[in-house]
Amino acid sequence: MKGKNLVLTGFMGSGKTSVGIGLSYRLKMTVEDTDKLIERREGRSINEIFAAFGENYFRQRETQILEELTQIGNGRKIYSLGGGTPVNPQNRELIRRLGTVIWLKVSPGTVYERLKDDQSRPLLAGEHPLERITGLLESRREAYEDCADLIVDVDGKKVEEIVDEIEKKLKEGIKPPVAKGETT
Ligand code: S3P
Repeated sequence: MKGKNLVLTGFMGSGKTSVGIGLSYRLKMTVEDTDKLIERREGRSINEIFAAFGENYFRQRETQILEELTQIGNGRKIYSLGGGTPVNPQNRELIRRLGTVIWLKVSPGTVYERLKDDQSRPLLAGEHPLERITGLLESRREAYEDCADLIVDVDGKKVEEIVDEIEKKLKEGIKPPVAKGETT
């Protein structure tokens, strides 16, 4: 694993930020959140960027950040991505180049419980959040799967347990996830 970045993907509320921090202590790697990099650069919160310039503008900033990060070269970094970053196929290519990709797989119910009082996700604002989460997650499943080197189910697990699981898998050497329709 030496010299290879780790990349955390997964839906909003899957725990990318907390798991990223936990992993950074455990593995002594620094963690960077691409949403935060965009916010810092734009001088606005994600909500403000969506409101002022729209989602497309934000998506372009995501691709730009990924392109820049892949130029920096492999290091000992953990990158925590926005929940929608893998949707764009061009981004998936960049994400794979960035490092070993870990998909934190979460169910709609868990996302709903975690984010029901959170106002910071523009895509979940409005009526019927659970339906919205379910639909969005389903429409993104293949994109997450497509770029994942490791899939970790996070429902009902503490951050510590997830970090343990990832650390163990990294030590064992990650095997590619089982392809769709295949059995183990
Ligand atoms: C988004 C997820 C958010 C943020 C933006 C859009 C998405 O990141 O990038 O609100 O499309 O799922 P988190 O997954 O960190 O909440």
